[in-house]
Amino acid sequence: MVRAEYEIASGAYDCAGEVSSDIKRQLKQLGIDAGTLRRVAVSSYEMEMNIIIHSLGGVINLTVDNEWITLFSKDRGPGIPDVELAMREGFSTAGEDARNMGFGAGMGLPNMKRNADTFNIFSQMEEGTRITITFRVI
Ligand SMILES: Nc1ncnc2c1ncn2[C@@H]1O[C@H](COP(=O)(O)OP(=O)(O)OP(=O)(O)O)[C@@H](O)[C@H]1O
Ligand SMILES: [Mg+2]
Repeated sequence: MVRAEYEIASGAYDCAGEVSSDIKRQLKQLGIDAGTLRRVAVSSYEMEMNIIIHSLGGVINLTVDNEWITLFSKDRGPGIPDVELAMREGFSTAGEDARNMGFGAGMGLPNMKRNADTFNIFSQMEEGTRITITFRVI
């Protein structure tokens, strides 16, 4: 059983990818297979970047047991006004700064969902966004 919590600051582009790298390192140490590792790495990176780019800051929790790898993210707002729209491929509200750094294709949430075995998103304006994704350990 592994548990880890990562704090992610809004706008922390200089730390981009650090959390997902650490998650990948931990899973590798546990002997998780390459395919699952890749799926978790893609999803955790998108989760991390969305908190950096779109939120006021938040946390990612990693839990691993014999059956499941779970990533849970929770941020402090501003929340997503229309989750169904945000889930569409190509939809993005990323600003110029993020786009200049290659973000803002509107593919993060769809990629997270595609790579995970289960995907759940809950968002409330002013409250923030919570995402839970799981991966079956094989
Ligand atoms: N944690 C969040 N807080 C607030 N809004 C969010 C959050 N995550 C996503 N969004 C909203 O959902 C939209 C779609 O997110 P998605 O990750 O699919 O694309 P993107 O981040 O804009 O671009 P990409 O991930 O391809 O670089 C974002 O542009 C943003 O409007
Ligand atoms: Mg994104």
